[in-house]
Amino acid sequence: MSDVPLDPEQRQSEPQHRDTSAQPRRNFLEWLLGVVVAVSALTFVAPMVAYLSPRRTRKGTNVLMGSDGRPVPYKELNTNPVVAGVGVNGEPTLVVKYSGEVRAFSAVCTHLGCLVKWNAAKSEFLCPCHGGVFDANGVNVSGPPPKPLKRYKVFATAEGEIGLEEVRA
Ligand code: FES
Repeated sequence: MSDVPLDPEQRQSEPQHRDTSAQPRRNFLEWLLGVVVAVSALTFVAPMVAYLSPRRTRKGTNVLMGSDGRPVPYKELNTNPVVAGVGVNGEPTLVVKYSGEVRAFSAVCTHLGCLVKWNAAKSEFLCPCHGGVFDANGVNVSGPPPKPLKRYKVFATAEGEIGLEEVRA
């Protein structure tokens, strides 16, 4: 217990007790922290990017997106004969299983753009705004709509989702 300072020569002769193994461990922990931060960021950002970018397989083709923002499985049509969602170019779309055939149409009325609904009892699309009527093929048969509903080709994608493709007139 002496408070007498050591002379410089004594200090130099003392062994250095620096832990040389601490540096590699610190480097490894910094690397590990970087990996954890990067994986966390990807886990957070990837679903946001996937949600915000519509799934397009090629021009004019898309996957029907449900109200939950996810692609609608094709098997949904086994239990629900009418499926509504967002299709090609963000168009509100109705997919209808009718008479053993799956058909898809834009739900946007060709008169002033209200959304039509499928009436299963009458097998026709009805527009609630001005009484426009379209038959099961989307053809305007009554009321003010000037032309048929836009129709889409429907298919099951490789991922088992409802795929849509524009039908060129
Ligand atoms: S908007 Fe559909 S009939 Fe007028």
